[in-house]
Amino acid sequence: MAFDDQETPSDSGRKETAAEFLPKTTSAYGDPRYWDKRFSAEEHYEWLKEYSHFQHLIRPYISTNYSILELGCGNSRLSERLHGEGVIDVTCIDLSAIAVERMKQRLKEKGLLGIQVVEADMLDLPFESESFDIVVEKGTMDVLYVDSGDPWNPRPETVSKVMKVLKGVHKVLKPDGVFISISFGQPHFRRELFEAPCFTWSVEWKTFGEEFHYFFYTLKKGRRSSEGKQFSIDKCDVPAMSLFHDELEDEDFIFRTDI
Ligand SMILES: C[S@@+](CC[C@H](N)C(=O)[O-])C[C@H]1O[C@@H](n2cnc3c(N)ncnc32)[C@H](O)[C@@H]1O
Repeated sequence: MAFDDQETPSDSGRKETAAEFLPKTTSAYGDPRYWDKRFSAEEHYEWLKEYSHFQHLIRPYISTNYSILELGCGNSRLSERLHGEGVIDVTCIDLSAIAVERMKQRLKEKGLLGIQVVEADMLDLPFESESFDIVVEKGTMDVLYVDSGDPWNPRPETVSKVMKVLKGVHKVLKPDGVFISISFGQPHFRRELFEAPCFTWSVEWKTFGEEFHYFFYTLKKGRRSSEGKQFSIDKCDVPAMSLFHDELEDEDFIFRTDI
């Protein structure tokens, strides 16, 4: 499956299609100009699935007194949904200045002034260490995988960008914080970076969705057994992809996507 828009039920139950916003090539998803143009015309679109589809998975991780950071909010309603669960301290970031402006406007119109919206790059998070209980992203890191080449052996630029995001998230999470990544990407294409040896988080995942399964990853900081080793964020070797390739040898994975 390509990294592509799909028909998604809106909150009202009406079907919306984003066909008019489809780019000519998937590389556009990595281009901030594409997002600016799209967000200046598009009111609302939920990538992957909207909140009700994974509410049962995310709820056990949130608490009303938590501080939550959402990466790459676009024009999604995820932050509103989290706020609706009683979480007061919600911040969302996006690289697109237009997405940020429009999100601020929408939240103002709805009287949801408590949600902070910040123009920022997830590769360079402008927050202090240990600021958030939860960091969540939905379909945002998947953007880094467009044009990543062979999914078993992604380009060094892709690996470097993904590792930058992960290191930043690891840093801004509180010592027992959780990173929730909601993604198209299957575990055998995500695990090797999520489980890089410098991170103290333990990695688990569940799936949701009917026809196509999406992945709900939880990376729980401070829960990984160190096995006598010291975690060092400065020295972070990425394990060989082939380890995971071997695991799959006898399995029939029909969804061998590259994102
Ligand atoms: C596939 S959309 C997902 C939007 C939203 N999370 C959702 O679930 O509907 C990717 C979003 O990531 C944003 N984005 C792309 N690169 C980013 C970066 N480096 N830092 C922050 N946001 C980024 C885009 O502007 C866009 O809003």
